Amino acid sequence: MKYIFGNWKENNTLSDVNAYIKEFKKQSLPTDVHYGLAVPYLYLQKMNKKLSKKCEIGVQNVSFSEKGEYTGEISAKMLSDFFCSFSLVGHSERRQKFKETNEEINQKVLKCFENGIMPILCVGETKQEKDEGKTKKVLKTQLTKGLSGIPLSKQFIVAYEPVWAIGTGLTPTPKEIEENIKYVKKVLEENIKKIGITVLYGGSVNPQNAKELLNASCVDGALVGGASLNAKKFVDIGKNLANVRR
Ligand code: PGA
Repeated sequence: MKYIFGNWKENNTLSDVNAYIKEFKKQSLPTDVHYGLAVPYLYLQKMNKKLSKKCEIGVQNVSFSEKGEYTGEISAKMLSDFFCSFSLVGHSERRQKFKETNEEINQKVLKCFENGIMPILCVGETKQEKDEGKTKKVLKTQLTKGLSGIPLSKQFIVAYEPVWAIGTGLTPTPKEIEENIKYVKKVLEENIKKIGITVLYGGSVNPQNAKELLNASCVDGALVGGASLNAKKFVDIGKNLANVRR
């Protein structure tokens, strides 16, 4: 099974969403690919109603608090009332543009678990950190701090997304992706005591490069931004992967 998750970010109006649903429904889906889409909160209910049989629907962010004086925030508990199955947590845009810290990200992960929402923890190095040879150090810190104190019985996903590859058309080599995902899994096993966690690659994945970038057996799938905005392209990423023989 391969996992293809999309992240719409702050995109799509209501009429775009209606068109997307129609287009998605037209696609024939490969049987061995699991699809998921992280949509803006406002579309959670509609997307769940229309597409949840074919595609898991979740959100892109969640509050670190449970309730109270946090104007503009949406709690994991509120989301669970609307059958939100997963939430991205710690996406690099949240870390960079909204200054989220590893401690806040950890609170968000814990709130997800408390409310039956599966977190997809996003980790990855900046270009500068890569150039300075700090990739592994950054990954280890983000993983151990982000997942600190989690209940061992709970499932989650990790998305390895180098910041410099997001929305830039740049990608690591397949070998670099393999090496870093293997490292993520090693840290999860040794430091978090979790074996068999699904780890995705994210950053400029499209239908053309998916097969090459995600070919290694340790790469369990992809987190896709730009190319997930087009239903056909998004489904095609999974189709191209499904053809990979292991
Ligand atoms: P991208 O975004 O596919 O547009 O590079 C990936 C992401 O932000 O998760």
